[in-house]
Amino acid sequence: MTTHTIPTVDTVAWRDDAVRLIDQTLLPTEFTYIDCRTVEQVWEAIKSLRVRGAPAIGVAAAYGVVRAVWNNNAATSDALIKSLEKAADYLATSRPTAVNLFWALDRMRRVAREHVALAPDALKLRLLDEAVEIHEEDDRLCHAIGEHGATLIQDGDGVLTHCNAGGLATSGYGTALAVMFTAHAQGKRIHVYSDETRPLLQGARLTTWELMRAGIETTLICDSVAAQVMREGRIQRVVTGADRIAANGDSANKIGTYMLAVLAKAHGIPFYIAAPTSTLDMSLDNGGLIPIEERAAEEVTEGFGRRTAPEGVNVYAPAFDVTPAELITAIITEKGVHRPPYRKSFLA
Ligand code: MRU
Repeated sequence: MTTHTIPTVDTVAWRDDAVRLIDQTLLPTEFTYIDCRTVEQVWEAIKSLRVRGAPAIGVAAAYGVVRAVWNNNAATSDALIKSLEKAADYLATSRPTAVNLFWALDRMRRVAREHVALAPDALKLRLLDEAVEIHEEDDRLCHAIGEHGATLIQDGDGVLTHCNAGGLATSGYGTALAVMFTAHAQGKRIHVYSDETRPLLQGARLTTWELMRAGIETTLICDSVAAQVMREGRIQRVVTGADRIAANGDSANKIGTYMLAVLAKAHGIPFYIAAPTSTLDMSLDNGGLIPIEERAAEEVTEGFGRRTAPEGVNVYAPAFDVTPAELITAIITEKGVHRPPYRKSFLA
């Protein structure tokens, strides 16, 4: 069987005492790293989607709180932890939907409190270790998601995806794209249709870039083409990522995902969500409780520097929608392929 090597990306890293990020707003035309040396820069990078995608936001936030205390000369660890908590509270205001952000910040807070007995400098190193562990763990989870998810992909499949749930959205390998990378690496011939993903074009700018780099057959479509390619028989499965999954399996992901799930149902096509368990929010009974981010009107009316709607027009721009669990054929996590009823499967 043919096998292929998949190139990964260094989406987020700790380098030279800074949080180094690929500035994703510049892709695909420019590949540039930026170094964030203040917590405000990390906040801005998350808010403006220089770093985006649920797991990558979590990793960036974990390094962000390390950066926030790195040059702090607090005399006691108790004082250091107070400034860490302030930074964590601030980073938590950057984007509301991806639960990985809050999950990573809570984990950093907990580790700080558990190690309050360390001297401040030792505590900083312990916090950096934890951020690195969150980062490396995400990479392991993404590879496991790829392995489980690839079992659902058959040779010759056309696969539709939305937004970007690839290496750029995680620590380097992806969730939904991990499924495609792994199937491709196993020698399965697949053809991926990538929704452009209005208004910020994560599919057009990022997903096609990653898939082409990996040598996977890729076709870019406008979001409104999805029904047509399904009717033409080009799509055998839909696979997307998620930003937050409620206990009953309702899943928030990039705006337009719900529409795809409805279309998949209408065409008898399996619809899969791929996400690490750090994206599960068992504290929420159902998806109606997931906070949905609204973005600035300008992203719709003058995205990428050109006005495309009249001045003063009313705009509604939710960044995410919630796909009801009953439209989801399976949820792929690092633990395996979960089938309904999801609550029972997640608890097991
Ligand atoms: O607004 P974005 O680009 O952060 O939205 C990202 C998505 O919707 C992804 O599908 C999701 O975060 C999963 S990433 C593995």
